Amino acid sequence: MGPVVVREPDAGTFLRRMRLSDLGAVMEIDAASLPKPWSEAIWRSEIESPFGLYLVLEEGDEVIGQIGVRSVLDELHVTNVAVRPGHRGRGHARAMIQGALSAYPDARLVHLEVRPTNRAARTLYQSLGFRETGRRPRYYGDEDALLMTLDLSEGRP
Ligand SMILES: CC(C)(COP(=O)(O)OP(=O)(O)OC[C@H]1O[C@@H](n2cnc3c(N)ncnc32)[C@H](O)[C@@H]1OP(=O)(O)O)[C@@H](O)C(=O)NCCC(=O)NCCS
Repeated sequence: MGPVVVREPDAGTFLRRMRLSDLGAVMEIDAASLPKPWSEAIWRSEIESPFGLYLVLEEGDEVIGQIGVRSVLDELHVTNVAVRPGHRGRGHARAMIQGALSAYPDARLVHLEVRPTNRAARTLYQSLGFRETGRRPRYYGDEDALLMTLDLSEGRP
């Protein structure tokens, strides 16, 4: 992994590593954003994993978004992306993904799963260059997942 990401995607926001003390805000955003939010135990183990990079986007004192990435050799897996309702549509998710990927200058492929019905997320990922590369039946229990992949050797978003 490259240097830990600390950058300002746009004026007034700040992307930094997630801390255990962020979990209250992070779990609140997760619950407001995704049908199957993670338990506190999962969040703790992800934050503490040496294979993960978990970042929060701050605006003032408030956490307004989060992103998680896991790495294995030169492949990355985006495990979590969410922006607090009320702060969406301002480029924050795009900036968080670009910021997280910049921590892995040697990565080659980025994978993620998305619900076919999640139009906003699918459009976001397509706009960054992700392509649909597969389908995981019943991945979410109630719905299949589309597997999307970004080939960084073709250029970075
Ligand atoms: C998906 C999500 C993370 C997008 O966050 P965001 O900060 O609003 O996204 P951005 O402002 O960075 O949008 C970047 C691009 O994504 C696409 N996009 C974002 N929201 C969209 C929407 N509601 N409808 C269609 N396209 C959308 C657009 O292409 C947009 O680019 P543009 O603004 O230049 O048109 C946010 O809606 C969210 O938190 N949703 C709930 C959690 C979730 O679904 N996470 C992904 C799980 S796989």
